[in-house]
Amino acid sequence: MPDSYSGRGNKDRSIARPGGATLEAGDNRLARPVHTSDAFLVGDGMTGGYGRGADILHGCTIAVQKGQIAVIVGPNGAGKSTAMKAVFGMLSLREGSVRLDGQDITQLSPQDRVAQGMAFVPQTSNIFTSMTVEENLEMGAFLRRDDIRPTMEQVYELFPILRDKRRQPAGELSGGQRQQVAVGRALMTQPKVLMLDEPTAGVSPIVMDELFDRIIEVARAGITILMVEQNARQALDIADTGYVLVQGANAYTGTGEELLADPEVRRTFLGG
Ligand SMILES: Nc1ncnc2c1ncn2[C@@H]1O[C@H](COP(=O)(O)OP(=O)(O)OP(=O)(O)O)[C@@H](O)[C@H]1O
Ligand SMILES: [Mg+2]
Repeated sequence: MPDSYSGRGNKDRSIARPGGATLEAGDNRLARPVHTSDAFLVGDGMTGGYGRGADILHGCTIAVQKGQIAVIVGPNGAGKSTAMKAVFGMLSLREGSVRLDGQDITQLSPQDRVAQGMAFVPQTSNIFTSMTVEENLEMGAFLRRDDIRPTMEQVYELFPILRDKRRQPAGELSGGQRQQVAVGRALMTQPKVLMLDEPTAGVSPIVMDELFDRIIEVARAGITILMVEQNARQALDIADTGYVLVQGANAYTGTGEELLADPEVRRTFLGG
């Protein structure tokens, strides 16, 4: 039984749903089939690439259950960011589909997916550096017509440093603080699903730990999380489901705990 979030002070099992196994039992772990029918968000059998270029994704499947955390890890160039962009509608798939809460959204534009409750923090250029912190948060809410102040207040409660720095250009913030702005901006849309591509890139281990704790907090609030992480060990430690991608295809799938315990995954991807 997975024991997600243990050791991170999160004892709330209502969000972790450890019983909600996403995997079919008894199969070979390599490219083990992912059970997708009841997933909240799923990129199912995604095949495609950029423009007219060669396929980058080869039948890649990524699924996450409501309120859970799914983590994608894998070597550089494996197609992790491409898989995220495919789920968010930034490249057109030759095969496969994307479903959100039972609806097929494969044909929707990224902006329409935002309207459906998806938020995406890309790996690079995820804030407006010349705008203030508060302006960045306001930009995140550009589709909303209702009062955004309560959400902004929630973001400042999640990331108190951003309240202190709200009048400062975001470009003057530290790496970890910028990532907080990027996550906060995404939360301003009041998403059902938050997609994060390497949210802890370039930050210290302490800042990474803090960010992961905030991400757990977001999941506990019921927001489904799909994230790519370079810090594989720490990310799998908080993952309900983990995916190892290699060359655009699923190589290993399991609970975070299973992948951390798998000798092959440890040897090949986690440095022993
Ligand atoms: N905009 C693009 N146009 C064409 N090819 C691209 C584009 N972005 C990425 N690629 C190619 O797609 C492949 C997968 O790249 P991707 O960025 O998805 O990998 P990644 O797993 O996210 O790597 P990293 O760990 O370095 O972030 C690579 O061969 C890359 O060169
Ligand atoms: Mg990437």
